[in-house]
Formats: sequence, structure tokens, C-alpha cells
Amino acid sequence: MDLFEYQARDVFAAHGVPVLDGRVAATPEEARAAAEALGGGTVVVKAQVKTGGRGKAGGVKLAHGPDEAAARAGEILGMDIKGHAVHRVMVAEGASIAEEYYFSVLLDRANRTYLAMASKEGGMEIEQLAVERPEALARIPVDALTGIDDAKAAEIVEAAGFDAEVREQVADTIKKLWTVFTAEDATLVEVNPLIKSADGRIIALDGKVTLDENAEFRHPAHAELVDVAATDPLERKAKEMNLNYVKLDGEVGIIGNGAGLVMSTLDVVAYAGEQFGGVKPANFLDIGGGASAQVMANGLDVILNDTQVKSVFVNVFGGITACDEVAKGIVSALGILGDEASKPLVVRLDGNNVEEGRRILDEAAHPLVTVVDTMDGAAAKAAELASSGKA
Ligand SMILES: Nc1ncnc2c1ncn2[C@@H]1O[C@H](COP(=O)(O)OP(=O)(O)OP(=O)(O)O)[C@@H](O)[C@H]1O
Ligand SMILES: [Mg+2]
Repeated sequence: MDLFEYQARDVFAAHGVPVLDGRVAATPEEARAAAEALGGGTVVVKAQVKTGGRGKAGGVKLAHGPDEAAARAGEILGMDIKGHAVHRVMVAEGASIAEEYYFSVLLDRANRTYLAMASKEGGMEIEQLAVERPEALARIPVDALTGIDDAKAAEIVEAAGFDAEVREQVADTIKKLWTVFTAEDATLVEVNPLIKSADGRIIALDGKVTLDENAEFRHPAHAELVDVAATDPLERKAKEMNLNYVKLDGEVGIIGNGAGLVMSTLDVVAYAGEQFGGVKPANFLDIGGGASAQVMANGLDVILNDTQVKSVFVNVFGGITACDEVAKGIVSALGILGDEASKPLVVRLDGNNVEEGRRILDEAAHPLVTVVDTMDGAAAKAAELASSGKA
């Protein structure tokens, strides 16, 4: 999960990383009040969106006093930055900047380690710097067990070539940023720019933090950081039901057991869909092994509530949970849903106890259900039904 800048700022502050005071505002009036609360002097009004390049897009603006802060907020709120609508701004104390640096630490999956990156030349163009003058960006692997201790911090500031007068302060700040990284279970902590202010202080002026959702159970407090407003309503509903669901932009709803099977189902449906006006899979949904009738009903419930969905493809390979159990699950799920089940279902069952499974579906003879023996055949049938439903 990516954090907003203001959330990253709060997390930094909690771990002693030097930051500037800032307040969140959703209206120009709130921005005016925030600027007043910050002392009425120079502030920076910053779009809060989870994408980079805000400054270049006009989403970071200087304001001299509360009136200007309200005016700048009025311009920035409602802006679209790379497809992200700006709903809030952060009004931050204005810093007088002497130098802009860069620091980040991230999970380096390819090398199975952590990686710290630092540069004396931070600011808005770090990606360009990394490509054009890679030698200006120090890259130092960080061992998971020893982390960024005094020695590692010294190695990083040395490699990045920081001036002697700031080395100690920068080293101290990056050790604290490492604490943020480990204590919060992050996979990315990036500060761009890390600045030296005119009066010689090192301050984190912008922060990007990605938290590792696999460690959610260790951080009940992180639940409050979730941007509920931005989550797709169907994905939210699925999450509440503990389903592994991702909304996509097509017409054929997909349910399967096992992530691998569902992934290949998406492929065969997309392929089959080409012959039927380009219909596409509407979602990824893995109901897992051992799926009960209730889980099947929950899955169908989410998918049938997707107004884009015109047909549903249930693709199940019976393993530990045999096909007859799955078939009973489908029949009782349709019973549970009653009139809410209103779209055609194509079911393909294979594996453990497949004959009995098919027999149960035949016997139930639900008017919406078509049983097809092969995966390709079922994909084609579901695509065909979706395209006729579309017309
Ligand atoms: N509080 C502040 N006081 C003075 N100048 C600031 C302040 N915050 C940001 N700036 C200036 O604005 C520039 C861009 O700000 P920031 O890094 O927050 O956004 P960005 O880099 O454009 O966004 P992103 O990191 O999403 O790409 C900074 O490099 C800095 O020069
Ligand atoms: Mg930045």
C-alpha cells in the first residue's frame, strides 16, 4: 500500500526524522486556516496524490500567507495529475532550501536484498539522473540483518560524496529512515528532496512510503491509512468477504479455484473473446481450495453486482475439494442468491469426482447454467453469451 505524502510525513515524524510542519486541507478555506495555523508566513501548497511528478504538473505551489494559500489550493484542488484527481492538499511550512539531495531504501527483489540509494543531486529529476549520470547516484546494498547501522550509514554518505559538514546529520537521518523502513514493514522509503536548509538543517521535504501488506497483521494502526474513498466498491466488498478479487475492464465474470488456474482462465477468455467482438474477462477471482457453498455464493454475489458483467465462467478443478462438493456449492449458491442471480453461468468442472459433479448440475437443471466439458469450449461459450448480452 502506497501512502500519501502527508501520511509519510507523519510516519517520519513518529520515528524522529526531521520534517516540516504541515496540515491537510480539502477546501481553499481549510488551506487558509492551515496557513494561519502555521504562523501566517510562506507556505507550500502540495497536491496529495499517489503519483510522482506533482511539482512538474503544477501541483506544488508556493504561497505567501493565508490568502495566497487559499488561492493556490483553489487552483490545485480538482486538478488531474496523471489520472489522479486531487481531493486534498497539504499546506506545509515553506523551507528556504540551500541544497536538494536524494535518499531511498527499498526491497531489491532481483538481488534478494535491500538497497539504499543516495545522491547529492536530488530534486525533481532523479529518474533522469539515474539514466544519464548513474555515477551520481550511489547504490549500496543493505544486509537485512545488520541494516543501516553507523558503519553502513557512513558508507552511504561516503559513496554519495556528501560534503563533510552535512555527513553526520545525513547519516543520522538515514539511520532513522531505516528505522521507519523496518519498524513499519515498508518495501520503499524515498525522500526526494532531502534538503539542507539555508540555516544548515537536514530535513525530509517529500516522502514516499510503500507498506508491505503481507505484514498488515503486525500493524493494526495501518488500517487507518487505507484510502477507502479510492478503493473500487466491488474490491472493497470482496475484501470484506476475504475473497481474492481484482476488478478488470471486461464482460465475462471469472471464478476459479487456485491463482494459476484463474490466470490461465483470463487468458483463454481473452483469446476466445476475440471471435466475439473483443469481449474480455471482467475480473480475477480465486475462491481457493476447499471453497464452500457460502464462498461460492459470496464470489457470485460480487461478480453479479458488476454491471459490466454479461456472463460468468466458473472454472473449477476438483482436488481436495471434489467436483461434487463444488457442484453442490454452485446449486446452493444460486439458491442463496435467488433472483439476484440473473446472468448466464458457464460451468466447467474437471478433476476429482467430476462425473458426480456434472450429474448434480444436470439434475438441478438451473435455467441459467450451461455445463461445458472443456476449458476452451467453456471460454468460447461464456464469451459468446457475453457478446450477445452486450448487443
Ligand atoms: N515545504 C517546502 N518548502 C519549499 N520548497 C518546497 C517545499 N516542498 C517542496 N518544495 C519544492 O518543490 C519541489 C517539488 O516538491 P516535491 O518533491 O514535494 O514534489 P515532486 O517531487 O514534484 O513530487 P513527486 O515527489 O510526487 O514527484 C521540491 O524539489 C522543492 O524544491
Ligand atoms: Mg519529490
